[in-house]
Amino acid sequence: MEKKALITGITGQDGSYLAEFLLSKGYEVHGIIRRASTFNTTRIEHIYVDPHKSDARLFLHYGDLSDSEQISNVIYNIRPDEVYHLGAQSHVRVSFDVPEYTGNITALGTTRILEAIRRSGNNIKFYQASSSEMFGASPPPQNESTPFRPRSPYAAAKIYSYWMAVNYREGYDIFACNGILFNHESPRRGETFVTRKITRAIASIISKKQDNLYLGNLDARRDWGYSPEYVMFMWKMLQNKMPDDFVIGTGETHSVREFVDESFSYAGLDQDEFIKIDPRYYRPTEVEALVADPDKAIKKLKWKPKVKFEELVKIMVDADMRAAGLEPIGEGDEIIKKKFPDRWWCAD
Ligand code: NAP
Ligand code: GDD
Repeated sequence: MEKKALITGITGQDGSYLAEFLLSKGYEVHGIIRRASTFNTTRIEHIYVDPHKSDARLFLHYGDLSDSEQISNVIYNIRPDEVYHLGAQSHVRVSFDVPEYTGNITALGTTRILEAIRRSGNNIKFYQASSSEMFGASPPPQNESTPFRPRSPYAAAKIYSYWMAVNYREGYDIFACNGILFNHESPRRGETFVTRKITRAIASIISKKQDNLYLGNLDARRDWGYSPEYVMFMWKMLQNKMPDDFVIGTGETHSVREFVDESFSYAGLDQDEFIKIDPRYYRPTEVEALVADPDKAIKKLKWKPKVKFEELVKIMVDADMRAAGLEPIGEGDEIIKKKFPDRWWCAD
């Protein structure tokens, strides 16, 4: 029988790729969306079919992670086999401005979902979108045994959720997994995260719509991978025999400065002309360096990321050039075609 999945955060970067992936695996996919005054469903419009049509397999339900009753209703009515909990106030810098809201959505939102699953009495597998940000000040490389030393309200909220998932696994025998994912990007990345901010700015600079790019800390180092590859492993974790927690990342690290260098030189621009520092983008406490040690996932899940840092940069620059009506340089498009010939859902 067709499996049913429920995705919170389906309108986000990962949620949209995961929805496509699960549809390609034959799932009936349900997503929770927030009511917004403007459309927030751009990333999933291309897979949406009128729900009245017989071939519709993607269904959207209004709800908010602050509203336990609605969450419970959706879970009770749909009876999903798997819940992928990706919804969150996911921006680290913003979490310093709205720490209480971040706690309510990113931390307590998880408890609302877990309680709804527990009370439903159904056998529902649960994926928690945990984050490398939880490692914070713990020096790299970071793996499943590295202590959490959070450096932001976002990280503290994610640690709360991590432990709630572990507690519901141990206390109520719920098949709950934490995917501790390092930074992963794509052309669908939110526009205020640093990689996308840079690649969009390149297209705007070439189009003469932007003169400068203002950034914060250029020395921070991140382990950046390609989002479509990461969402497949969310699913893989839930197909394992036993529930477990996994670090997913490339094992390579680069600074924000290196991302700027690589992307500006790919686009043939002189970064010195355009990059300016704005201290408003500094964080009260920063995570200096993240580097995954994904050995457990390599051994147990056969994790093997295909897209390297330089390739990710090219994929993102090409996509933003195309979105701005410019002719892409083309190497990024070639990488997608070559590395994912049978995975149409990886292309944007
Ligand atoms: P994203 O693009 O920011 O998407 C966040 C999603 O959460 C959006 O669909 C958003 O809906 C939804 N959301 C926010 N507040 C909500 C609320 N109050 N009620 C219901 N839904 C709400 O994030 P992402 O990059 O896809 O990441 C997915 C998850 O993985 C997040 O939990 C993130 O913290 C975590 N994570 C991400 C990374 C990464 O590098 N991308 C790494 C580790 C962990 P709207 O469209 O309505 O805003
Ligand atoms: N956003 C942003 N904007 N970041 C900047 C800027 C800027 O103008 N200038 C420098 N940075 C630096 C930040 O200080 C940080 O060290 C680094 O770039 C990456 O910032 P983000 O792209 O905002 O991502 P993040 O690492 O803080 O958080 C992302 O990854 C986490 C996993 O480690 C988010 O996706 C989180 O949701 C995710 O959990």
